[in-house]
Amino acid sequence: MAKETIIMDRINLIDVFEGISLPRLLHTQETVHDATNFQFQDTDILLVTYPKSGTVWTQQILSLILNKEDIQNTITKPTWERAPWIEQVHLWEFLAQNNASKPRLFTTHLPSKLLIHNLKNSKVRVVYMIRNPKDVLVSYYHFHKFSKFLPDIDSFEAFFDQFLEGKVSFGSWFDHTKGWLGVQEELNFFLITYEELSQEPHQAIQNLCKFLGQQLEPEQLESIVHYCSFSFMSQNDKLNFTLVPPEIFDHSVGKFMRKGTTENWKEFFSPEQNARFNKVYQAEMGNLTSKFSWSLY
Ligand code: A3P
Repeated sequence: MAKETIIMDRINLIDVFEGISLPRLLHTQETVHDATNFQFQDTDILLVTYPKSGTVWTQQILSLILNKEDIQNTITKPTWERAPWIEQVHLWEFLAQNNASKPRLFTTHLPSKLLIHNLKNSKVRVVYMIRNPKDVLVSYYHFHKFSKFLPDIDSFEAFFDQFLEGKVSFGSWFDHTKGWLGVQEELNFFLITYEELSQEPHQAIQNLCKFLGQQLEPEQLESIVHYCSFSFMSQNDKLNFTLVPPEIFDHSVGKFMRKGTTENWKEFFSPEQNARFNKVYQAEMGNLTSKFSWSLY
């Protein structure tokens, strides 16, 4: 098959849903539409992230907190079953498996404009996990290289431009972040960053527990810190995505659990790209009052 045909096939796997482009492998018009009308219960917990911000890591932590009495059993199930994405095709299958659990734990990458009407005035606990966008960009670039359900990318330089322009799946990082931070007062909302979880895992997990109304014994906290560590998660087949078939992830060219560090962008950004990124960041985020625990420099 000609290279162009293969590329077209792959590009065709992206579709526009409610104004944002998403991979068709996991989404249909109907599932995304249903997500915007999802019937939340007040006891639900919703993890919200832009892709590559540490979603799976936080799914692991939240589900371990909620199942602190049964950690060994919990880690045998993949995180995507424990905290299903409300916009994805497998939601109902996973929901049926977890039917009895309370509180229910869900995940979404959708922008706030699609969910706010449904969430405001509810008691749903919204955990918004964000990460230094420079590291998100680098992680997303590598994710494209080995994900067969995302469009081919020509080079880091090309992806860099696409990311800054918001021409990637799930749209602009800046819009996603400003959107969710802009509605936080209307929600039962908790902000956590990848960086604080990396630097102070004990404290960050305790903060999460407080928001969730949960308490951990010291040994439970130690256990969660251990089972959510990069070393544990990256070596565990149930958590590291190595069992995902090669038609979906080409394991010969990359790993889901790639680096798991902060400031990896410094190995990829040229000085010129860094200056351009900072300029766009300043223009987009300059007025935001939230303080983030990452450094752009
Ligand atoms: P890198 O590509 O920078 O390594 P998401 O789950 O939102 O897709 O995010 C994936 C990113 O989170 C990847 O970043 C991955 O390595 C990192 N990650 C996953 N589990 C982690 C953990 N336990 N500790 C630190 N980073 C983790």
